[in-house]
Amino acid sequence: MNSEELVANTAQHVERLFAGEGSGHDWWHIRRVWQNALLIARQEKVDTTVVQLGALLHDIADWKFHHGDEEAGPRVAREWLLSQSAPEPLIENVCQIIREVTFKGAGVDTTPSTPEAKVVQDADRLDAIGAIGIGRAFAYGGHKGREMYHPGQEPQLHASFEEYKKNQAPTLNHFYEKLFLLKDRFNTATGQQLAQERHAYMQQFVHQFLSEWHGEEVPPA
Ligand code: ADP
Ligand code: NI
Repeated sequence: MNSEELVANTAQHVERLFAGEGSGHDWWHIRRVWQNALLIARQEKVDTTVVQLGALLHDIADWKFHHGDEEAGPRVAREWLLSQSAPEPLIENVCQIIREVTFKGAGVDTTPSTPEAKVVQDADRLDAIGAIGIGRAFAYGGHKGREMYHPGQEPQLHASFEEYKKNQAPTLNHFYEKLFLLKDRFNTATGQQLAQERHAYMQQFVHQFLSEWHGEEVPPA
């Protein structure tokens, strides 16, 4: 099988697995990350097959909610790629991407070790910010039954992945705990550049949200 066929088969496989996922890790997220990754990869010296497979498989553990099992993603990806007779070095490079892309809290450095993983991490982070990022954050919060906002409840900068993951805070806090921090953590110049506009749009959104919320606090007649 050539690499184009391997990418096409993987896209079809992942699309089937993720069909109907409502938690923010749906097929459309994967598809946008794939497209973003290709856009960034054009400007970088990287293996585009590895980048595309990494983008397509980066959230593979989430279709079944294997939470807390960090090796689940690489394991499921490896099984799939072996079923497609992919060569071992390619499989290992893709698995390394899956291990390295995830945001683990404000205080945790997660700079990837390979140029391909840097591209996929940037592509995934672009999809967490801007208008899409706002939509995903509220979809995730709704899925978990969280409040949108709670006046007086301060955002927390989490020092570990465990702390970050068990956080139950209102969705607006997530902007301060993760989304606003991402713009300074892009690996590639293209990612960094695309992040600017999306970041500014989120800032404007939060500003408007808070002014509408607090503007409602008029004294009773
Ligand atoms: P990823 O590594 O793909 O960003 P996550 O599971 O951390 O995966 O996040 C999936 C989506 O849900 C992202 O858009 C993220 O910003 C959003 N999200 C994650 N945690 C929260 C939260 N506590 N509140 C609101 N949105 C969240
Ligand atoms: Ni993702």
